[in-house]
Order: sequence, then structure tokens, then C-alpha cells
Amino acid sequence: MSLLKVDDIHVYYGAIHAIKGISLEVHEDEVVTLIGANGAGKSSTLNTIAGLLKPRQGTIAFEDKVLNGLPASKIVPRGMALCPEGRRIFQQMTVPGEPGNGRLHPAQERNSGQHGRNVPALPPAE
Ligand SMILES: Nc1ncnc2c1ncn2[C@@H]1O[C@H](COP(=O)(O)OP(=O)(O)OP(=O)(O)O)[C@@H](O)[C@H]1O
Ligand SMILES: [Mg+2]
Repeated sequence: MSLLKVDDIHVYYGAIHAIKGISLEVHEDEVVTLIGANGAGKSSTLNTIAGLLKPRQGTIAFEDKVLNGLPASKIVPRGMALCPEGRRIFQQMTVPGEPGNGRLHPAQERNSGQHGRNVPALPPAE
């Protein structure tokens, strides 16, 4: 069974047809890399899988459940999240809070028995 199955998705920015039928599959314990020229549609594909863009056609299924149309906030608790390439920080967060930002979603913490407050402490300032 594939963990993630993207089947023939088409994505538009207004009238611009940016993604024209991309399909891919990711199985458990597999690392899949999406490569392509600038403007080929890598970010648009990932943003669509993560729920930030909506495909006009095609399906995205995670663990055999179709995710099309779900917002990112409903996709993350199912166990799939996007780590954006940018290196910006969240200016409103405290320094200890920033690494904690990468912790598990509360729904996953409940399932795994781990707790978000269990973030490694930062070394003391000199
Ligand atoms: N916000 C937007 N509005 C209109 N067109 C967009 C928008 N974002 C991307 N596009 C267009 O969609 C197509 C795919 O762009 P995308 O950013 O997904 O490519 P990419 O493979 O991630 O490129 P890069 O390697 O430069 O990051 C391009 O033709 C781009 O111009
Ligand atoms: Mg990109």
C-alpha cells in the first residue's frame, strides 16, 4: 500500500495552468525526491499535497484516504506536514519556543505518548 498517492493533479493560479497532470507515489520507509527546472512546479505540487492549494482535477490520497479539498490544518493531524524551504523565524515566538515549533501535532502526541513540552533545553547563554 502506498502512504501517499498523487494521481493526475492539475493546479491553476487563476487562468494559469501551472500543474498539468502530476502523479507520484510514496511508500512507507521510502524517500522520494521531486526534481525539476525553475518554474517546473515543484513548490506548487508540494503546496497542493499539503492543502495550501486546491487541485482542480486529480486526487491526493494519504493512507488510502482522499485529502482533496481539506485545509492544511486538517491534514497535519493525519501525519503529513510541509517543511518550507525558507529560513525565517517566527518573530513573536520566544527563543526556547522556536525549536519547539517542530514538535508533534497534539493529535499525534496523544497517539505516540510523547509530549510537546519535552523539547531539549538550549545551552545557557555565555
Ligand atoms: N502565485 C503564483 N501566481 C501565478 N503563477 C504562479 C504562482 N506561483 C507559481 N506560479 C507559476 O507556476 C509554475 C510553477 O511554479 P513553482 O513555483 O511551483 O515551480 P518550482 O518548480 O517550485 O520553481 P523553483 O525551482 O523556482 O522553486 C510557474 O510557471 C510559476 O510561474
Ligand atoms: Mg519552488
